Amino acid sequence: MKKIEAIIKPFKLEEVKSGLAELGIEGMTVSEVKGYGNPTQSTRPLYGPSRLPFIPKLKVELIVRNDLLGSAVAAIKQSARTGTRGDGKIFVQDLLEVIRIRTEERGDQAL
Ligand SMILES: Nc1ncnc2c1ncn2[C@@H]1O[C@H](COP(=O)(O)OP(=O)(O)OP(=O)(O)O)[C@@H](O)[C@H]1O
Ligand SMILES: [Mg+2]
Repeated sequence: MKKIEAIIKPFKLEEVKSGLAELGIEGMTVSEVKGYGNPTQSTRPLYGPSRLPFIPKLKVELIVRNDLLGSAVAAIKQSARTGTRGDGKIFVQDLLEVIRIRTEERGDQAL
């Protein structure tokens, strides 16, 4: 199993959600976060080191079966993209275990 963490523009949430749902991927956690990325050549001199502003973003976290990783990442890339700076990033990690508390199912069965 893989954990996908995507930092996206807030207004893109519904599009990302439906893009994933089309693949049959349901279940996600969304948090309001703030952050900053790589400053552009033009914004860097405006703020100086360590003074870049924090911009509100959403963090979408979801766990998927290994065989769905590629299509899930593709769906997020496509639905979250505007083509302008700040579109966000996708981080992928291996996930050790999932346990459904109600049934004690584990792994893929618990997704
Ligand atoms: N290296 C990083 N580590 C952790 N979070 C990051 C990192 N880079 C970006 N983020 C998060 O992703 C959000 C969006 O980043 P952003 O899309 O601006 O990345 P970027 O590298 O600056 O690309 P772009 O040039 O398209 O703006 C940031 O506000 C921050 O929350
Ligand atoms: Mg940026």
